[in-house]
Amino acid sequence: MVESEQEITLKIIIIGMVVIFLLSLSVIIFFILYQRRLLAQQQKHQKIESDYQKELLKTSILSQEEERTRIAKELHDDVGAMLTTTKLYFGQITPELPPDELKDIAKKTSGFLDDMIHSVRSISQDLRPVVLEKLGLIEAIQSLVQTINESGKISAGFQNNTVKTIIKTKELNIYRIVQELVTNTLKHAEATTIKIQLKNDKNVLVILYEDDGKGLKGENMLHKKGLGLKNIESRLSVLSGTSQFINKSKGMKVKVEIPI
Ligand SMILES: Nc1ncnc2c1ncn2[C@@H]1O[C@H](COP(=O)(O)OP(=O)(O)OP(=O)(O)O)[C@@H](O)[C@H]1O
Ligand SMILES: [Mg+2]
Repeated sequence: MVESEQEITLKIIIIGMVVIFLLSLSVIIFFILYQRRLLAQQQKHQKIESDYQKELLKTSILSQEEERTRIAKELHDDVGAMLTTTKLYFGQITPELPPDELKDIAKKTSGFLDDMIHSVRSISQDLRPVVLEKLGLIEAIQSLVQTINESGKISAGFQNNTVKTIIKTKELNIYRIVQELVTNTLKHAEATTIKIQLKNDKNVLVILYEDDGKGLKGENMLHKKGLGLKNIESRLSVLSGTSQFINKSKGMKVKVEIPI
């Protein structure tokens, strides 16, 4: 039986519609799958980001605890012990005591009091460097560099090319970052020189820090064992800053950028 023209047209229309339907269906399925993948990727990124924030928070709490333990220990071992000894000496004072012994006790207790004043000053200096409070970040770094040079172990240079003032509230965190970098060089690097450079790039403070020691191995700082580098990261997160380790034939170089 020969199909009529009408039937052929109908078949073509039906086949065409089926094809269009299948095409649309595959586009929809593709779109849904693509969205799902995008969402999964976003969730993965969010998880990485939140894990990272958690890690930073943990580091910050841990180092605060460490700092408190250290201060408690210094107060207990230094100041506490000296106060106890001084009290013992005072207990020996009686009206019958010969003037010579009295003089001896006065000399010793005065010595203890001097040591105590020194200890308390150094503990408070550690908590918040006086020079930072009084004169600001640049002078505080200068003073840090001077202390390193006076130790005679290593030569440190500091170049300041900043033209903008740094917000007071950011100074302590920035100072602690430089201090940790310096401490690490002294502790791990076996370097002979340290170079610190500060400059402005518009409203961004740029710190270039380098030493000529053993150098940092491994790119990812957060996998390193100590608290110091993680602490730098957590301070940078507070400051909305970034750090970038730069390859160097000998030693380590890091560029820190902080909006001010
Ligand atoms: N300037 C450097 N030169 C060579 N190695 C370094 C330098 N800075 C850091 N490192 C390496 O990176 C590791 C991690 O440093 P980080 O400051 O996090 O920890 P730490 O100094 O060992 O301990 P903490 O800072 O908690 O007292 C160090 O143990 C050291 O091996
Ligand atoms: Mg360290």
